[in-house]
Amino acid sequence: MFSVIKLASETLTENYSPSLFNYFYETFPQGFIVAEKHHKIIGFIVGLPIRSENARILMLSISESQRRQNIGSKLLEQFLKEATLQNIKNIELEVRTDNNKAIKFYQKHGFDITEKLSKFYQNGEDAYTMKKTI
Ligand SMILES: CC(C)(COP(=O)(O)OP(=O)(O)OC[C@H]1O[C@@H](n2cnc3c(N)ncnc32)[C@H](O)[C@@H]1OP(=O)(O)O)[C@@H](O)C(=O)NCCC(=O)NCCS
Repeated sequence: MFSVIKLASETLTENYSPSLFNYFYETFPQGFIVAEKHHKIIGFIVGLPIRSENARILMLSISESQRRQNIGSKLLEQFLKEATLQNIKNIELEVRTDNNKAIKFYQKHGFDITEKLSKFYQNGEDAYTMKKTI
């Protein structure tokens, strides 16, 4: 768990309280998936079911040196598989409006921008909501 928290603090702009990670894992372990290389954690995804038939991806991060090697895609695909098993039909997430690589990444995986949320983040930045039906 420590490695995931460290990776999150290095790669994600938002600050998450360490206790949240335990909460996410205990609430929906199937949606807390890590990628390892040589016994080191190089990426992770965290998502939770919300309302019936919906899930939300809360975090996705790949270590900077390991990007563009399809690792994020594999984590996302595994998450979608677990979600399907839980009868989830819709996936949603928020992304910073200036995070072009993440927006491109999610669009490649069939997510569409559905909304813009003003001042969504702790630092006042705006978010796009992106959604996909599975
Ligand atoms: C977004 C992120 C998770 C992508 O992970 P990744 O493992 O590098 O992505 P993949 O290698 O699976 O990429 C799949 C496709 O997404 C798109 N994509 C990914 N990174 C991209 C970039 N930097 N620029 C443009 N398109 C990109 C491409 O279409 C790519 O396919 P291709 O490599 O064949 O062109 C990663 O860049 C990351 O950790 N970013 C920082 C954290 C973050 O922004 N998280 C998301 C918001 S919570």
